[in-house]
Amino acid sequence: MNEAFERHIQEYLDRQRPCLITDAMRYALEGGKRFRPRIIFAIAKGMGLDEKQTYDAALALELIQTYSLIHDDLPAMDNDDMRRGKPSLHKAFREDIAILTGDQLLTDAFKVISQSKDYDPEVKVNIISALSSYAGFDGMIYGQLLDVTCDDEKIDKELLEEIQDNKTGGLFKISCLIPMYIREEGNEDYYISLGSMIGHIFQNQDDLFDLIKTEEEMGKNLSDAKNKKGTALSIYSLEELKQLIDNEFKQLDEHLAQASFDTSYLKELLKALKER
Ligand code: IPE
Ligand code: IPE
Ligand code: MG
Ligand code: MG
Ligand code: MG
Repeated sequence: MNEAFERHIQEYLDRQRPCLITDAMRYALEGGKRFRPRIIFAIAKGMGLDEKQTYDAALALELIQTYSLIHDDLPAMDNDDMRRGKPSLHKAFREDIAILTGDQLLTDAFKVISQSKDYDPEVKVNIISALSSYAGFDGMIYGQLLDVTCDDEKIDKELLEEIQDNKTGGLFKISCLIPMYIREEGNEDYYISLGSMIGHIFQNQDDLFDLIKTEEEMGKNLSDAKNKKGTALSIYSLEELKQLIDNEFKQLDEHLAQASFDTSYLKELLKALKER
């Protein structure tokens, strides 16, 4: 746990309008693994940046991640009752409050960046542009559209890759781009590919865990099979999927060999991802 970043989240919550949605935001934000922020910190460290300078951007991304999970769990979506080790937001509060809380988290992400004291105007525009593209039609929302309209009979390898690259890769692309924008130097395509590769691994693992882990271990319902959703498990056997993930880690290593920052911190984090 990164205590300084957790404090940053708490201080942000303490500044919000005291109301039921703020209570719900506090509840929903608690218990996340913060994997997307940790990628930001690891790359930033390898670039020699001050970690604290990334906190507002990491916060904005974690607000969007949390909103995406609140909405993903709603009865009209995956209809899941457990998230981050406790009842989903629409169960702990109410469905209307959960919808509004998701809306507020998304909206506020843009306020956090636009009002931040830590970035120059050009850096803000780049971060806002990445958030709005890759959490939207160039990423998460488009991926979720493919996901909700894809059952386990319709899915093939190409569609699976497109779903993963968007619904999960979208936010990881933002993680990788943010340090580059703060550093104000780098090749965007390189960081987009990096985020995409991490996204595929992360979602393949997440699908694999639906089979080999328990809901208690994961802190959430594992409902995709029950809902007949098209996932990696609709295409690959357990062994094939493990092999695929291993190969993806190797390709990621090759990509990291081309990096223009010290990758040791990111590699450490990816090692923890591999072993999770
Ligand atoms: C869950 O993401 C959504 C997926 C892309 C599988 P995480 O597993 O990172 O969830 P939190 O943020 O730690 O709750
Ligand atoms: C959701 O994928 C990814 C999002 C964009 C929210 P899943 O539906 O597999 O995520 P979990 O398993 O509920 O966390
Ligand atoms: Mg889903
Ligand atoms: Mg889900
Ligand atoms: Mg899942």
